[in-house]
Amino acid sequence: MLSITFPPLILNFELLCLSVWYGLQCWFCSLIRMVRAWYMDEDTSNPQLEHHLDPAEYVPIEDVFELSGVEYFKLNLETYKTDGVLDGIRKERKYSYEDEITCSETCIPNYADKLKIFFEEHLHTDEEIRLVLDGAGYFDVRDKGDRWIRIEVGPGDMLILPSGIFHRFTPDKRMYVKAKRYFIGEPVWVAHNRIGSPAEGMDCRKEYLKKAQEGF
Ligand SMILES: [Fe+2]
Repeated sequence: MLSITFPPLILNFELLCLSVWYGLQCWFCSLIRMVRAWYMDEDTSNPQLEHHLDPAEYVPIEDVFELSGVEYFKLNLETYKTDGVLDGIRKERKYSYEDEITCSETCIPNYADKLKIFFEEHLHTDEEIRLVLDGAGYFDVRDKGDRWIRIEVGPGDMLILPSGIFHRFTPDKRMYVKAKRYFIGEPVWVAHNRIGSPAEGMDCRKEYLKKAQEGF
């Protein structure tokens, strides 16, 4: 009798344990890919590498905002179209334009040259808003003290760079990123490079520096 009754119970218990273990693993996996940011070195060779200082100096993402005005949101890519989080951000900030870009060898002609342009230090007169859907890359942003902070972005990471901040971008060594772009009104993608243009004297730069001084 025991040999007939208990094996199914034991089997069910094992299945339960496996389910719990699997659930915990999924939960842990979703947690471990947290956005990372760190102060980086000044070496501009091989931008797709991580470029940590020695020793590494990580910056908590909450501090990135205080230091640079860059805002970070974590979105659930399985539900972001309907869960209201993105809609709330768009509505509050009046993002009326949306498109999708893929940064890869097959999608962008003269990819190597384009990557060099993306990696030139520049600013925009408007916010730069990106939601990463796939792949990974680095946004490098200057902090208040003009030091580079590297922000590693992957699927579900949304960044809002304020207008007037000097920054640059590169995919990571896999050389592939797919992302959504948002904008208020008709998009303006013009980049004003720090070197060789009057970017330092632009109104948006002055306003950014004022905010940096007063607190974001
Ligand atoms: Fe940019």
